[in-house]
Amino acid sequence: MRILVVDDEESQRDLLAGFLKKRGYEVKQAASGKEAIEISRVQGFDLAIMDLKMAEIDGIEAMTRIKEIDPETCFLILTGYGTVESAVEVMKLGAYDYLSKPVNLDELELIIERISEEQFVHRELEILREEKASFTDESVIAESKKMKDLLALVARIAKSNSTVLINGESGTGKEVIARLIHKASDRRNNRFVAISCAALPETLLESELFGFERGAFTGADKRKVGKLELAHNGTLLLDEIGDIPTGTQVKLLRVLQEFTFERLGGTVPIKVDVRLIAATNQDLRKKIAETQFREDLYYRLNVISIDLPSLRERKEDIKPLVDFFIKKFSMRSNKIIKGITREAVNTLMRYEWPGNIRELENVLERAVVLCRGEVIDVRDVPIRTDSGFAGVESLAEVEKRHIRTILEQTSWNISEAARKLGVHRNTLRLKIKEYGLTDSTTR
Ligand SMILES: Nc1ncnc2c1ncn2[C@@H]1O[C@H](COP(=O)(O)OP(=O)(O)OP(=O)(O)O)[C@@H](O)[C@H]1O
Ligand SMILES: [Mg+2]
Repeated sequence: MRILVVDDEESQRDLLAGFLKKRGYEVKQAASGKEAIEISRVQGFDLAIMDLKMAEIDGIEAMTRIKEIDPETCFLILTGYGTVESAVEVMKLGAYDYLSKPVNLDELELIIERISEEQFVHRELEILREEKASFTDESVIAESKKMKDLLALVARIAKSNSTVLINGESGTGKEVIARLIHKASDRRNNRFVAISCAALPETLLESELFGFERGAFTGADKRKVGKLELAHNGTLLLDEIGDIPTGTQVKLLRVLQEFTFERLGGTVPIKVDVRLIAATNQDLRKKIAETQFREDLYYRLNVISIDLPSLRERKEDIKPLVDFFIKKFSMRSNKIIKGITREAVNTLMRYEWPGNIRELENVLERAVVLCRGEVIDVRDVPIRTDSGFAGVESLAEVEKRHIRTILEQTSWNISEAARKLGVHRNTLRLKIKEYGLTDSTTR
């Protein structure tokens, strides 16, 4: 626990600081409110013990200003004898507690222990909340040889600190694998933090990554700790690395070389111990050729590379994944689903899955919701075919569906439909007969 002792009376300061140091706390001192504010700009504290009455900037003002810089700091205010009103005011303004002078050291120690415990619980809760928000299922299905080999590789590389580059089409499970690496490493009890480089414009991405000091830019009214700092001793996933702006690439390169950076608007170098994992669904070599990605950064990131196979390259995983998702979604929707028909599985096996596991997951979530019986049927798994992948719907089927749509739009006016389709009426009549299309509304 880092504690800042603020008092303009040297003897009082020395007494408190000496006592706290002996108890094993990390202690800094400030001789005025002004100095306390200055120190807080460069370093964060868990607790500030502050005299209320000080010349120039008093305890209340210093507390208010430090809270603006670093809202996480907790305050313990020391009040002179008989100043009950200011004590009440101090609490209202957000101090954790107050102590009247002369300070009873046993009492002080008890309060600090309580604060320390509360901050610990608070932090744990935050970590839990973060994990819960971004992590729902730990199971990783891997039946195919390709995936089994890949998991063996993950187990081997997890213990090292080398940077990993995960390549794979969207929805193949890049984030799942990144989390798995973290969970299998010695960093598992610290944070796994993910940031998507695609969703954010350059300045926002950098402030997310590096954090910023108060006043770094308009709107920066509080210090913000970046993801790199949050991931200290843990793992940071840089998702969609192919989309990272060139300016940020330079800064990232420096982090990878020295593991040191500054918050935006800051001057103090911050050192972190972070394992970096980058993920992309783009061809980075191509981006290098187009000078959109720095080659030196590529080599720094690509120390170990993992290529996640697409789902169509590991069709043996489809059935186990289907079973897994049926279980997951039926549990979630409180439905009893016992299985899936062979015909439905065959349909799923024939499909090319451009959206990979994510798409399969979505199809099954729908199927579980739509399913009327206890077994998922082929009509519960309507596969999206507008993505242009053959294998599920033949050209003839597409034609049939399109003709039916146009006929319905024109209320089965053959002449009008033929004109819209750009064919002769007789051709259309032939097709209608061939495909056995009927006007369902007149029957
Ligand atoms: N092996 C697996 N076993 C079970 N579920 C998986 C597996 N791989 C991926 N998933 C699930 O598929 C979905 C997509 O995975 P993930 O988000 O890791 O993919 P991604 O490659 O990062 O995708 P995107 O490119 O869309 O960000 C997630 O819901 C994930 O839980
Ligand atoms: Mg992803």
